[in-house]
Amino acid sequence: MSRFVIIFILLAASGFILIVQNITSLENLSGHVTFALLKIQKSFQSSFEPTETLWLSELSNTFCAHLGQEPTPEEAKEEKYLLNSIAWPGPLVQGLPVEFSSSPKKSYFVIQGPAKQHVGGQLVVNVHIQNFLGLPKKHGGDFLIARLHSPELGAGVAGKVHDHNDGNYTVLFPLLWAGVVQVQITMVHPSEAVVVFKRLNKEHPDRVFFKSEFRSGALSEVTECNVCLPFNQKPICNYTDPIIGEPWYCYKPEMLACDTRINHYRGGYRMNITTKYEKQLFKRGVNLKVPIPASGMEKVIVIPAEKGQIILNDSSAGYYYNNTWRPLNGAVMQQFHDSAAIKQCLRGKLIYMFGDSTVRQWFEYLSEFIPVFNIHTPLKVYPFIAMDSKNKILIQYRIHGPPVRFNRVFISTLTYVANELDRIKGGPNTVVLLSVWAHFNSFPIDIYIRRLRHIRKAVIHLLNREPATLVVIRTPNLMKVNETSILLDNEWYSFRFDAVLRAMFQGLNVQFLDAWEMMLAHHFPHDLHPRPAIIKNMIDVVLSHICPVKEYIKD
Ligand SMILES: *[C@@H]1O[C@H](CO)[C@@H](O)[C@H](O)[C@H]1NC(C)=O
Ligand SMILES: *[C@@H]1O[C@H](CO)[C@@H](O)[C@H](O)[C@H]1NC(C)=O
Ligand SMILES: *[C@@H]1O[C@H](CO)[C@@H](O)[C@H](O)[C@H]1NC(C)=O
Ligand SMILES: *[C@@H]1O[C@H](CO)[C@@H](O)[C@H](O)[C@H]1NC(C)=O
Ligand SMILES: *[C@@H]1O[C@H](CO)[C@@H](O)[C@H](O)[C@H]1NC(C)=O
Ligand SMILES: *[C@@H]1O[C@H](CO)[C@@H](O)[C@H](O)[C@H]1NC(C)=O
Ligand SMILES: *[C@@H]1O[C@H](CO)[C@@H](O)[C@H](O)[C@H]1NC(C)=O
Ligand SMILES: *[C@@H]1O[C@H](CO)[C@@H](O)[C@H](O)[C@H]1NC(C)=O
Repeated sequence: MSRFVIIFILLAASGFILIVQNITSLENLSGHVTFALLKIQKSFQSSFEPTETLWLSELSNTFCAHLGQEPTPEEAKEEKYLLNSIAWPGPLVQGLPVEFSSSPKKSYFVIQGPAKQHVGGQLVVNVHIQNFLGLPKKHGGDFLIARLHSPELGAGVAGKVHDHNDGNYTVLFPLLWAGVVQVQITMVHPSEAVVVFKRLNKEHPDRVFFKSEFRSGALSEVTECNVCLPFNQKPICNYTDPIIGEPWYCYKPEMLACDTRINHYRGGYRMNITTKYEKQLFKRGVNLKVPIPASGMEKVIVIPAEKGQIILNDSSAGYYYNNTWRPLNGAVMQQFHDSAAIKQCLRGKLIYMFGDSTVRQWFEYLSEFIPVFNIHTPLKVYPFIAMDSKNKILIQYRIHGPPVRFNRVFISTLTYVANELDRIKGGPNTVVLLSVWAHFNSFPIDIYIRRLRHIRKAVIHLLNREPATLVVIRTPNLMKVNETSILLDNEWYSFRFDAVLRAMFQGLNVQFLDAWEMMLAHHFPHDLHPRPAIIKNMIDVVLSHICPVKEYIKD
């Protein structure tokens, strides 16, 4: 048996070398050649790992497919549109040796235009991606982020990256302040790594798994739970929400009944899910969030605008100046430095926060000023309530429904945002702050889309009931990553969530809080939980929405 395997590997390896040789000599892959290569590649792969391939294809057909409600034709149409809008290009041939994958250090960017440019203009930067052999890439799909900044001014703005799908990218920055500005382009992931992330969500949606404890009298049992569980293995308990139909399942305990479930928590991670080859595609200091160097100048001098108004054509949410966020959407940003200013703004308001720990951070920030009300329960038991009876301020934070990776949440407090929104009266003194994304990273994106669809429906109902209700939706943001954490959470997943979230709530009377740009434009290291200085800027944006400057007229 083992001899057979060795021969197999030798045969496969020699086939591999042949392909590599052919590719090395063929820099220009015509469509014809590519097709042929794809065919070879396929037969190569399936002869190499026959059992694994079979198992995977079986799994993707059974996992989830039978559980959860069918979308209506209209929902299916929207989902198709959304998926098309976030379609991501990638390598024409998969599984090539790592030398052919994108290398940030071998890639470079070139600033276009003169060394002196004007405020109000646009800085254009071309990025050329090359592989480890120093040869230009011929396809797109590398995940790049870009920032323009002036450290001594505390100024920064996010750039917009356009993928030309041929190995070249253009990054556009609005020029918003005078001074020396520095370009910073980072390859978060090569396109070849994105292929792996797509595979993981399809084939291993249960790599983050959950558990629940069941209890009755002295009897206690724990079983595994998830959005869906492998079909036909063991008896399951069906916790699908009766109102909105969000699916949730646990394996049935041996002795106890399904209705004895008392809590929900993160069960653990299944991490042995990448091959040795794939691991090479996200190496710290090599191709995981590594800066791309400049060819030529990496700074330009921005001088004040010439006479005559320059109309800025840019869709940035805002920028930092003197480390203070300045929105570009016409809203006036105010500073709420002290308790008195915050209380005055929030007087008479009911604030509901729903979502993950990224909105809980806002609760924690505000609870420095508005006392937390928890008579019997220590913090970390939901919901959190802060109250100022003198000023009639009530702030509530609730976690969203499962999946939630927190340590332990009681079933009684684990409710879906959509259902909670349906219980809110709404009105001019009601503020709803939503942030739902971080716990969905390891799942196929349709699970996130379905969740947002339910929340959106409830938001629409709320705004129909009480159009003066203020709804603010916090977008996903960049985070700190390492070679293992990216298999569960990564910025490529969050980037796509960001796009889907904006598309689904576009046109509704809701405000976005652009956490993505507020993190990217700042000089702090990226973190799932932004640091206090960024949180302060976010809270100032939210409070500026709650208490707008009345006399301001947009010109
Ligand atoms: C390599 O290219 C030659 C022609 O250039 C072709 O005959 C041969 O089949 C190719 N081998 C593989 C493994 O693609
Ligand atoms: C690649 O193709 C282009 C045009 O299709 C041609 O000009 C160029 O010489 C080719 N390069 C190589 C290395 O064959
Ligand atoms: C990409 O940019 C390089 C360098 O400017 C250029 O030589 C190449 O032609 C560009 N590729 C395409 C497909 O435009
Ligand atoms: C779970 O319950 C929901 C609604 O009650 C139902 O639509 C779904 O088919 C059930 N799932 C299974 C696997 O029986
Ligand atoms: C990881 O998985 C591979 C095959 O899927 C298996 O051979 C190996 O023993 C596993 N390693 C660990 C530490 O579980
Ligand atoms: C603004 O920029 C976009 C692309 O960045 C372009 O499509 C659009 O035509 C521009 N609009 C104006 C008025 O220049
Ligand atoms: C920058 O911000 C600090 C406080 O954050 C303030 O004291 C200072 O006056 C600001 N400078 C400018 C130029 O706005
Ligand atoms: C990677 O990040 C995770 C989560 O932030 C952390 O728990 C883990 O220890 C880190 N691993 C390494 C190798 O740094």
